[in-house]
Amino acid sequence: MNIPQHVAIILDGNGRWAKSKGMPRNYGHVRGAKNLEKICRDAYDIGIKYLTVYLFSTENWKRSREEVDGLMKLFRSYTKTCIKTARENNMKVRVLGDPTALADDLQESLKELVESSKNNTGLNFNLAINYGSRDEITRAARKLAKDCAAGKVNPDTIDESLFNSYLDTNDIPDPDLMIRTSGELRLSNYLLWQLAYTEFYFTDVLWPDFNKKELIKAVSYTHLT
Ligand code: IPE
Ligand code: IPE
Ligand code: MG
Repeated sequence: MNIPQHVAIILDGNGRWAKSKGMPRNYGHVRGAKNLEKICRDAYDIGIKYLTVYLFSTENWKRSREEVDGLMKLFRSYTKTCIKTARENNMKVRVLGDPTALADDLQESLKELVESSKNNTGLNFNLAINYGSRDEITRAARKLAKDCAAGKVNPDTIDESLFNSYLDTNDIPDPDLMIRTSGELRLSNYLLWQLAYTEFYFTDVLWPDFNKKELIKAVSYTHLT
């Protein structure tokens, strides 16, 4: 089995999972976050070097106030736990997306998480939070335009690699495999630039039920050479 170096996941289906158990949507998110802790260890065990997960999209702000508040509360506790697990499991954590719309204390915790794990040499774990590809590309274009206007970059020298260096993923290799759980066949504004050549794997399994066996199934499905 060829193990992909970088796996990107759209962890979808928490709400439907909770509904199927007669529970509120936010309970599904709590179980989804717990599952993510397990999948991180499983991914590293099977030899994956980079794992990028979609935690909250720029579109997810449109959900009910109650759900967004619940998710933000969950991200607070998840980030704190992740500071510990990153230390225990030697994970290097990066954050993708625009953190400025998040509450100050959450921004601080995320910074601490990135800073405290930056020298770790195990799994590279990337959290996409308030992430949207169009937003990422627009921010990159704005920054690049400013550098051109300031005379730091000559527009004639802009190529794919220079543009790539302005993205949130600048020093992360492109994913080899993208997994979306819960049966939805769309990208939902995830890593549009980075997935240009990535293999896609869709499964009906809802995220809280996605386990090591399912991960191995996804990985062995790929045609990587
Ligand atoms: C994915 O689960 C988690 C987030 C988007 C935060 P959903 O909340 O989208 O679950 P479904 O799609 O409604 O079942
Ligand atoms: C994508 O899932 C975003 C995350 C997993 C964080 P959604 O469930 O929000 O996607 P759409 O909006 O239904 O396409
Ligand atoms: Mg969904």
